[in-house]
Amino acid sequence: MFMLKPCLKEAQKRTKEKVVFKSDIYKVSDELKCLGKNKKYYIKTYGCQMNEHDSENIKAILEDMSFQEVDNMEDADLILLNTCAIRENAHNKVFGMIGRIKHMKETKPDLIVGLCGCMAQEEVVVEEILNKFRFLDIVFGTHNIYDLPNILKKSLDNKKIEVDVPSIEGDVIENIPVKRDSKYKAWVNIQFGCDKFCTYCIVPYTRGKQRSRKHEDILKEVEELVKAGYQEVTLLGQNVNAYGKDLSDNYGMADLLRDVALTGIKRVRFVTSHPWDFSDDMIDTISKYPNIMPYIHLPLQSGSDRILKLMGRRYTKEAYLELFNKLKSKIPNCAITTDIIVGFPGETEEDFKDTLDVVNKCEFDSAFTFIFSPREGTPASRMSDNVSLKEKEERLYKLNDLVNKYARIKNEAYQDKIVPVLLEGVSEKDANCLMGYTDTMKLVNVKCSKEYLGQIVNVKINDVKTWSMDGEIVL
Ligand code: 5AD
Ligand code: SF4
Repeated sequence: MFMLKPCLKEAQKRTKEKVVFKSDIYKVSDELKCLGKNKKYYIKTYGCQMNEHDSENIKAILEDMSFQEVDNMEDADLILLNTCAIRENAHNKVFGMIGRIKHMKETKPDLIVGLCGCMAQEEVVVEEILNKFRFLDIVFGTHNIYDLPNILKKSLDNKKIEVDVPSIEGDVIENIPVKRDSKYKAWVNIQFGCDKFCTYCIVPYTRGKQRSRKHEDILKEVEELVKAGYQEVTLLGQNVNAYGKDLSDNYGMADLLRDVALTGIKRVRFVTSHPWDFSDDMIDTISKYPNIMPYIHLPLQSGSDRILKLMGRRYTKEAYLELFNKLKSKIPNCAITTDIIVGFPGETEEDFKDTLDVVNKCEFDSAFTFIFSPREGTPASRMSDNVSLKEKEERLYKLNDLVNKYARIKNEAYQDKIVPVLLEGVSEKDANCLMGYTDTMKLVNVKCSKEYLGQIVNVKINDVKTWSMDGEIVL
């Protein structure tokens, strides 16, 4: 049986091979168009926005094959796990779920089960699946989502697990269909992969090298979204500030932000920014166009120069603070959030204090905080680590207390203010409320009629908490 298994050695390579742009590779034959007739599918998505958006593509592909989506895993004929490899707990959750599905398959032998996403790109994961979970039907990677119909067909014909995970640096595939989760806000990929190779991070191995989409394709997609009534786009990439550096058309992130803003879409967002590539041109563009939202996610990772160097982050504490202060002074009312890792191998109490110092200086609007998780194949996983888990946990709690304190203070500044909110859905905590985000990405629950769904309305904030606010519409 032919299998295309992922290979760590291949994934570590960066050659000078040219990126190929393919816009006609996705095809579904008439036979495959009926493959899912009267069958239902369920996708469970783990991880980042990139994965969320990949799932939107996968849903459209499955629907092209006549499968229908269901919200309940138990009702499905096909279950797909779109996975994340960034930390061990995401990993463990997926293997827990595979165990649960194995039981389901015992009573439902025709159930089709698949695994895709970043874990599928890991050599160790695929080995474990082949050793222990051969009941799976398909395993495919982040580079060949477009080929799902053929992969599924092969597995059904051969009645065997079909592993199809190329370890390539990656191409840019256009024209994959999409079934968007929201009618009001949309993810738009601007770039795939990452070349930064931060020493703790598995992404450059699972998603390949940095490949920017052509700006013409991105702008066409945004223009179509505007026509379809979308209010907001979020430009997606691992490293959006480096957009275009791999193309030779002298067109970078500042140009793209300007041109996306000029499409007239009401709100433009972008994630994630690496402090390394944040240019003055970008800052000027963000401050110039009112439809580019004053919100920046700027991962810090650590406040210690020694640890930043070991992480391969290419900036110092001082350089981060300088950029942070520039953003705050040039972009009025700008909210800044961050990511922080504690317990990187060898992190001392002194190093950790430097991280707390940056948090105290920046007073972030909020932060995602993590304990370092060693990932197979990354340089940091081979560094000697003498910090106990207990110490790491204590640092995380201490850091979280500080982060929460500032999140609350930042939210309190909104009390009684009137702010624009895009109402995008029904609130999870109260079915009589709609929820949405301010331009600065603060979650607001608003008691109002459903007719306001999809609109940007002015909301007066009546109550603030650490992670959300309550308000009412003012006309
Ligand atoms: N361990 C812990 N956190 C990690 N992140 C990435 N890799 C790891 C790892 N091995 C965090 C970083 C990144 C965020 C998406 O996840 O903070 O910005
Ligand atoms: Fe990972 Fe660093 Fe690339 Fe972000 S910039 S995806 S942390 S390697």
